[in-house]
Amino acid sequence: MKPIYYPEPFRIKSVEPLKLLSRKEREERLAGAHYNMFALAARDVYIDLLTDSGTGAMSTEQWAGVMRGDESYAGAECYYRVQETAKKIFGLPYLQIVHQGRAAEKVLLPLLLEGKKYAIANMHFDTTRAHVELAGARAIDCVVPEALETTKPYDFKGNMDLARLESLLKELGAENVGVVIMTVTNNSAGGQPVSVANIRAAEKIAHKYGVPFMIDAARYAENSYFVKQREPEFKNSSIEEIVKATFEGADCFTMSAKKDAIVNMGGLIGCRDRALFEKIKQRTISYEGFVTYGGMSGRDIEALARGLEEGIDEHYLRYRIGQMEYLAARLDEAGIAYQTPVGGHAVFVDAKKLLPHIPYYEFPAQALAAELYLEAGIRACDIGSFMLGNDPDTGKQLKADFEFTRLAIPRRIYTQSHLDVIADALENIKERASGVRGYKIVEEPPILRHFTAKLAPISAK
Ligand code: F0G
Repeated sequence: MKPIYYPEPFRIKSVEPLKLLSRKEREERLAGAHYNMFALAARDVYIDLLTDSGTGAMSTEQWAGVMRGDESYAGAECYYRVQETAKKIFGLPYLQIVHQGRAAEKVLLPLLLEGKKYAIANMHFDTTRAHVELAGARAIDCVVPEALETTKPYDFKGNMDLARLESLLKELGAENVGVVIMTVTNNSAGGQPVSVANIRAAEKIAHKYGVPFMIDAARYAENSYFVKQREPEFKNSSIEEIVKATFEGADCFTMSAKKDAIVNMGGLIGCRDRALFEKIKQRTISYEGFVTYGGMSGRDIEALARGLEEGIDEHYLRYRIGQMEYLAARLDEAGIAYQTPVGGHAVFVDAKKLLPHIPYYEFPAQALAAELYLEAGIRACDIGSFMLGNDPDTGKQLKADFEFTRLAIPRRIYTQSHLDVIADALENIKERASGVRGYKIVEEPPILRHFTAKLAPISAK
């Protein structure tokens, strides 16, 4: 019996033309970009899977909201609306809008990490790690070991390793740990979900040691959908109820609204403590703008208020996760390995398994990304050794746990036919995999090199 993948719960009202360049043109563009996917012009890309962040399509309601956006400097109508909606959804009393996820991190994390040495998370996203480090602390990842085995199915590969969390708190001294962070879904492990039971248990441990518990809520709605599917306690719960349960024990959260709130720009901070909120407001005014606009235009705030509600609609989420499941099923048929079971916002193809002849220091996931562009104008990115970079002390290339080529699927943008193109391209690459060569770096900046480094293919020996 064929599975049903819940097709698009919308129809298309406005279209944006796409063009597939010829193979020769793609070769020229890729060489011109020094084989760095970030250096390609978007107009030269046919299917853009670089990120699911800020790349979604807004609904007619959101576009109508754009026209109604109130651009008053203080106390705009949209401010009250987003406050009301976010309070209802998340259940935390104090909320601050900011312009994106990393802005929320910049405002909140130094407050939590003042005088502290560590942050512990199931996994820190890159910008979260950067803001922990900028605050003078170290970021420690503490994900369950199941996350590292890409071909082994496990329902909640995003979970925190609870025993390790507790021993870390003891070893490091809880007084040195500024925050315990739960990233839902766990992006760095492959968009993998975290169970509510795990969130509750991690929160209990953090609180037992007197450490604040924070949620990185970028993909909280997708996480809630997985919880409904996989965690028996919640099989009859609504998404709204699962979201409530997710945030129930959190002292605070940061959120990039560019993901599950389906807006092109926006972010949120939530907290329960009034004194902390006062400090958040002060820092927001310095870094983002007055508290009622937080670095956003009124029209974007209005779109955010509406997007928050659309992002937790179960029909939408079924289609959304269904797209990942469809693409993953095509890869299963073709025998192409990926982080299994598929995550919520992307398919993380295991490039180590597809290109076993390319060692980590020749960047197999980057090689696969380049190949996808050459094959079908698809832009993906390396989440592996190329992204990880060099050891800051020795300058030597670090070896990543994973070599993933991430196919991040923007929300409400591509149809099932586009997904077929992606799967077909990967199948073709698999057939000629042994001829795919690795890359070397010819120029790189000292930090976050993957955005701007220049590469060259390694020629045949
Ligand atoms: N936290 C998580 C889990 C994220 O995935 C991101 C962004 C951020 C925080 C930062 O949010 O971009 O709004 O400042 N992830 C994007 C990605 C960029 O491609 O995965 P931001």
